[in-house]
Amino acid sequence: MDAREKKRKAAKASLEFIEPGMTVGIGTGSTVNELIELLPSIGDRINKVVSSSQASTDLLNEKGFEVTRLNEAGPLDVYIDGADEANKRLHLIKGGGGALTREKVLAGAARRFVCIVDETKLVGMLGEFPLPVEVLPMAQSFVARQFTKLRAQPVWREGFVTDNGNHILDVHELNISNPLEMETRLNQIPGILTVGIFAHRPADILLIADDDGVRELRA
Ligand code: 5RP
Repeated sequence: MDAREKKRKAAKASLEFIEPGMTVGIGTGSTVNELIELLPSIGDRINKVVSSSQASTDLLNEKGFEVTRLNEAGPLDVYIDGADEANKRLHLIKGGGGALTREKVLAGAARRFVCIVDETKLVGMLGEFPLPVEVLPMAQSFVARQFTKLRAQPVWREGFVTDNGNHILDVHELNISNPLEMETRLNQIPGILTVGIFAHRPADILLIADDDGVRELRA
């Protein structure tokens, strides 16, 4: 089974967490794109949809969904999104698609966060995937120096501007043996808008697709 089929399986499994009348948050990325493809099949269950990126909003619109802004939607009943890495405590690295800030807001606003991945995303320790960090453009060099002091290698995602008009640093070789502590520590650096570690607000449910089916881990 190829990676895309696994992503589709994880996406399909997440549909059962969407119950009639729910306000649903939708994330960003190739796994979520599979979900958006499937969403019309249960469209009648959805009251409102909120999206974490312009890319997902465009796809949702194509599928006939009107997207509500979070400020008008109120709390989300469920938020469904992918991840770049996940550990067994359901801490995540996110932001490979650069949508981490809005993703973190929607995860925070959601009663339940369902994360959909294929088996390659499950890791023992976070950090092999370079950590995406959204930074204010004027603070980019300053923030990069702070990572160098932590013996990590920040790489500017050249030519990429987030939906919020900011830049992304992809930070290689950062030691994330304690995701909660590292998220807290990085959040103190001025100029960082969002760190791609989702430990203080982890997923509630992790759906992991492999050749045999979809496994479920709960926090
Ligand atoms: C986007 C994200 C995505 O959830 C993450 O990059 C996973 O993407 P994919 O499903 O394409 O592997 O955080 O900002």
